[in-house]
Amino acid sequence: MAREFDVIVVGELNVDLIFNQIQGFPEVGKEILSNDMTLTLGSSSAICASNLSSLGLKVAFVGKLGNDVFGQFIIDELNSAGVDTSMIIIDDKYKTGATVALSYDEERAMITHQGAMSYMGLDDIDPKQLRRAEHLHFSSYFFQPGFKNSLHRLFEMAKNEGITTSLDVQWDPSETWELNLEQVLPFVDVFIPNEVELKKLTGFSSIDQAIESVGIKCNYVVVKCGSRGSVMYYDDKLVPQKPFLNKNVVDTIGAGDSFNAGFISRFIKGASPEDCQEFGNLIGAISTTEAGGTGAFNNLDEIMKIAKDRFNYYGSIE
Ligand SMILES: Nc1ncnc2c1ncn2[C@@H]1O[C@H](COP(=O)(O)OP(=O)(O)OP(=O)(O)O)[C@@H](O)[C@H]1O
Ligand SMILES: [Mg+2]
Repeated sequence: MAREFDVIVVGELNVDLIFNQIQGFPEVGKEILSNDMTLTLGSSSAICASNLSSLGLKVAFVGKLGNDVFGQFIIDELNSAGVDTSMIIIDDKYKTGATVALSYDEERAMITHQGAMSYMGLDDIDPKQLRRAEHLHFSSYFFQPGFKNSLHRLFEMAKNEGITTSLDVQWDPSETWELNLEQVLPFVDVFIPNEVELKKLTGFSSIDQAIESVGIKCNYVVVKCGSRGSVMYYDDKLVPQKPFLNKNVVDTIGAGDSFNAGFISRFIKGASPEDCQEFGNLIGAISTTEAGGTGAFNNLDEIMKIAKDRFNYYGSIE
């Protein structure tokens, strides 16, 4: 019998409050005005979950929020994208995470309060939750200290429940890159870092060496290389794929999370690795055509229109 959800995403949650069109960065003791402001769903994991759902998959989220308006905003945003939020934990002790971003020309300055996301860990996850899905996706390891030294146990739990898995570690703000890949990768089917993250994690400066060093430990390594597309490693071979190049990028926020959504949506349907990678590249490219990580993913018709008009892609989107 098919499971209730296609994908269960375990990860961090926060809002992004973005001040656009400021005249410069504020100085200590002074106040400046911003001509525009946006409050949006932040966090890599939530962008991936939301876009998976927009691509037609049944998606559930496990994360931690405070009992406050930002928490409610996140739940409303995920629900309106069709993501099941019933497994999200609301904890009165903490505040919902928030990032304030100041955007001045091409420059950005950001400050984040992690709040509740720091306090979710292995004890908050029940194997029964994982059993409800076909696939586990986990993102942003370094933003969730509750999983420090126990991430491999979450992935082992998923494998014991007979589900497939994917991992995107994302950036490490402390830049220490302490994650024991030997421990976790044997339980990971698809490892999806970006190029810089993979080099930092493995200590190799050559992308080929970095990929091969992890490729022997999991089934598929898929490395996102921005406007150069992606490189995949499986069955002892390297498969580079060109991007669906967008020369008029609005922004690249969430392009990597969108790539993940594209790759995973094909992967769980049993598509060939090359098809999964191509669809990851397409969904990553589509993300760059609108502001933010979810702006281009309002509904299937619009996604399909962008795919055709902007990228000459006439295949199926679902
Ligand atoms: N200019 C572009 N044109 C077309 N596709 C792009 C462009 N930039 C990025 N992409 C697509 O998006 C994918 C992910 O981008 P990127 O390598 O920036 O991921 P990332 O660094 O993990 O991003 P994130 O900030 O979301 O974590 C790329 O592999 C590529 O397929
Ligand atoms: Mg990324």
